[in-house]
Amino acid sequence: MDTQTKIALVTGGSRGLGKNSALKIAQKGLDVIITYRSNKEEADKVVEEIQALGRKAVAYQLDTKDVKSFDAFVKTVGDHLEENTGSRNIDFLVNNAGTALYAPISDVTEEQLDDVIDIHFKGVFFLTQKFLPFVNDGGGIVNVSSGLARFALPGSSVYGSIKAGVEMLTKYMAKELGSRKIKANVVAPGAIETDFGGGRTRDDKQMNDIISSVTALGRAGLPDDIGGVVAFLCTEDARWINGQRIEASGGMFL
Ligand SMILES: NC(=O)c1ccc[n+]([C@@H]2O[C@H](COP(=O)([O-])OP(=O)(O)OC[C@H]3O[C@@H](n4cnc5c(N)ncnc54)[C@H](OP(=O)(O)O)[C@@H]3O)[C@@H](O)[C@H]2O)c1
Repeated sequence: MDTQTKIALVTGGSRGLGKNSALKIAQKGLDVIITYRSNKEEADKVVEEIQALGRKAVAYQLDTKDVKSFDAFVKTVGDHLEENTGSRNIDFLVNNAGTALYAPISDVTEEQLDDVIDIHFKGVFFLTQKFLPFVNDGGGIVNVSSGLARFALPGSSVYGSIKAGVEMLTKYMAKELGSRKIKANVVAPGAIETDFGGGRTRDDKQMNDIISSVTALGRAGLPDDIGGVVAFLCTEDARWINGQRIEASGGMFL
């Protein structure tokens, strides 16, 4: 990675929206570091696809639930960058990794709730905190929320509420990091056809039809509908967008 080229780190870049974001970011001319939780094979394929675009890429294992591992992860990334660029810094951190939870309030267990908080809030908070000394001034944070932080659907109380927390956290990040010219924004996808939640938006026809019927553009989302939005926020053209929630849902529940 050469010093002039900007670098983005995308968590959960092995599949779905993170993969699409990583590829679109690479198409914008940035080098990319992706992380995966367990799916090294898929992550390696994404690395190859990015390299085929002429950009540099590397994949590291990271469980965003495991806050205690973050110091070692930041050091690993820093060592790699220092060796290859002479600097330990990245420019953009995309907090994308995550899993679904569909359960009615009556059934949610303490363990499930802790899990969602750990992955979707605590992990985002502390990974950002740990990377802050290593984000170049003028860079940015992109968090990934959900349409479910704006509208309520049965079974998504915990997930939607925690994503709403991430949206407020993003405003606080924008406020506190502005002095370093670091922007923070949140992309809120609608229901997108990925492996998420057992792939139900993609594979369950009834679910897919319902989503299409409540979406102004008349279909469920695809990864390609999201990655470009994340990538745009990692470009100079988006430099004045700060503290914003950008929903990319095709107009769900307008
Ligand atoms: N798809 C949707 O409908 C939708 C809608 C709104 C928001 N979102 C949000 O978009 C983000 C990405 O979702 P997706 O649809 O792309 O999901 P996905 O296709 O299931 O991919 C999830 C990605 O996150 C990684 N991951 C999962 N848990 C992790 C953990 N504990 N630590 C580190 N990495 C982890 C996975 O790694 P492995 O490949 O190694 O398992 C994979 O790369 C999530 O934050 C999700 O909440 C999704």
